[in-house]
Amino acid sequence: PVRREDLLTVFSGSADSKPLSRCATAPPRGASAAAAVCRHDPSCENGAMERPQAFHCSEIKIIFPLKMRKANAARIKKILTFQQGAKKQVENISSALLDWFYKNHRILPFRTDPSPYHVWLSEIMLQQTRVSAALPYYERFLAALPDIPALAACEEEKLHKLWEGLGYYSRVRNLQKAARIVCEQYGGQLPADYDALRALPGIGDYTAGAVASISFGIPVPAVDGNVLRVFSRLYNDPAAVTEPAVKKAFTARVMEHQPPDAPGDYNQALMELGALVCVPNGAPLCEKCPLAHLCAARAAGTALELPRKAAPKPRRLQPVTLALLESPAGFLLQQRPQKGLLAGLWQPVLWEGEALAAGEVLARLQAMGLDTGTAAPEALPAAKHIFSHIEWHMNGILLHVPAQDAPAGCVWASREALQAEYTLPGAFKSYKKLMV
Ligand code: ADE
Repeated sequence: PVRREDLLTVFSGSADSKPLSRCATAPPRGASAAAAVCRHDPSCENGAMERPQAFHCSEIKIIFPLKMRKANAARIKKILTFQQGAKKQVENISSALLDWFYKNHRILPFRTDPSPYHVWLSEIMLQQTRVSAALPYYERFLAALPDIPALAACEEEKLHKLWEGLGYYSRVRNLQKAARIVCEQYGGQLPADYDALRALPGIGDYTAGAVASISFGIPVPAVDGNVLRVFSRLYNDPAAVTEPAVKKAFTARVMEHQPPDAPGDYNQALMELGALVCVPNGAPLCEKCPLAHLCAARAAGTALELPRKAAPKPRRLQPVTLALLESPAGFLLQQRPQKGLLAGLWQPVLWEGEALAAGEVLARLQAMGLDTGTAAPEALPAAKHIFSHIEWHMNGILLHVPAQDAPAGCVWASREALQAEYTLPGAFKSYKKLMV
């Protein structure tokens, strides 16, 4: 149960419970700075701990102004009201889960320094890739853009380059949009308020919950696929976790078990358990699970069938024809429109939704004002790229052309510029090999 007064003591812990992360790099905006004092370790005042694992903070209180308290209280009331509908009972998992987490968690940079910016960035990256794959991107991104004002001011090409390889470029564009709002409205610091976080571009329930709970100690849920899997097995619940109402009911259960003094550690522990033990592909490692004795799916032998998901909508198949033109100045790149799929990124000249013969491609290039020269076009290898809702089936030609100016919206990019400057989305991976 979450008590109203817990909203006031958002950063609290004890030597016994070994909290992993408590301190934000600054007191939440709007909170009383004078009250943001770690009473156990004075060096912690307003600052991040160097090594959260070694941090045994006895008490930190951050006093939120009334408006913020009311907003968070309303959210928690909503969650508690929903959970009253839950029928199944499982003994509280938090103690066994946290004991396991403190002993077995991976040491990760966004845990060592869980400032709001770090947690935000890591969670956005982790929506599209595994922790091990995300780490080099995370380190490189922060080395280039160490804080929110730097992200807000970053030039577009550089931003895309930092994200190259991760895909889903709209995520980094939203990251920057949000950073600009944070600079304008919150002095460059993320707000310590779930609803204010949730209102920022690209921040959904999960990311708002992760930042609010991990960085600010606010008792809210952060329910991702890992957590849904753990809970569907723990309760042996065959409801489809892809349904919003089911996700809501699971979230209420997650909150039933959340300890008010360690919401961030609890949320991370669930994610970690899902990533390391209650794994998505193949058999879960139940012999390593701290919740095995409570797990209803283990008892019923149904773990491998869970979580249940509704069948995904079939993707739309789209033919795409490419023209990869090489002149003495490099390859011809065209910038995509600023809205929609792969917004603002660079690509070879192409036509979406059309499978064109080489003769038709040459005619269209000439209609763009290009001198297609006399060399015979070579066929490009066929390639496929899967987006979330569309599947591109690509074909096309490679053509050597004379030196000439690039048409409007296009550039000639040398091999060096292709490496250092322009971001070619992963959809063109097969063709990039021919270009660098
Ligand atoms: N996956 C996404 N976020 C995570 C986190 N904070 N810890 C572990 N796995 C995660």
